[in-house]
Amino acid sequence: MYVDMHSHVIWDVDDGAERREETLRMLREASADGIGAIICTPHMTPGVYSFPEEKFQAHFLEAQNMAWREQLPLALFPGAEVLYTDHVPRLLREGRIPTLASSSYVLVEFSPTDEWSHIYDALKAVSSTGYRPVIAHMERYPAIRTLEQVRNLKTSFQARVQINARSLLRKQPLFRRHFFNALFTENLVDFVATDTHALPGRETCMKQGMQALRERFGDTICSRIQMNAEELIRR
Ligand SMILES: [Fe+2]
Repeated sequence: MYVDMHSHVIWDVDDGAERREETLRMLREASADGIGAIICTPHMTPGVYSFPEEKFQAHFLEAQNMAWREQLPLALFPGAEVLYTDHVPRLLREGRIPTLASSSYVLVEFSPTDEWSHIYDALKAVSSTGYRPVIAHMERYPAIRTLEQVRNLKTSFQARVQINARSLLRKQPLFRRHFFNALFTENLVDFVATDTHALPGRETCMKQGMQALRERFGDTICSRIQMNAEELIRR
């Protein structure tokens, strides 16, 4: 059983599922893909765009009911994928930003054009709130390109690294390939998740991704990454 800690499965709150039926389809697909728990992480841009909190709550509860009615062995947890803004540290301190399954980890996303100094300062600011940042799909940020940078973020700010399962199934661009592989062999990746949207090419691929992970980097790394995600939902 896999824990998918990054998913846009809840409908009509971001660019993920649009309709209730799409959420239902995605829940079925997740279950068939070996996923036993999903942390629902809609996009949020705190202090810049308002997030439909009440709608998310209602649709989240309805999605839980759908899974139950369909008898899917699938637990849902709330979360968010937070695009970093200057408002994030204050809102985190005020408890107004959902963390991953109410843990001390918060999933933080950047724009692919963000510079290293911005990412560094942002993660520093998040870490100063006492929460631990998980860098969403870190492979997407060209500004992070050396193992030293990653180690620095991890030791200085307790940052954690999430990679999309689909990235393990795609050839990385030549100039990134060595870095991407080294992230795994140097044990710098903490989470692999689907980041699934109801869009062609962004379907769930957890089983395939984890299989590729095991084949390419071995059982030990694979088990550790799975355990990290299980840890998020442990009470
Ligand atoms: Fe996402």
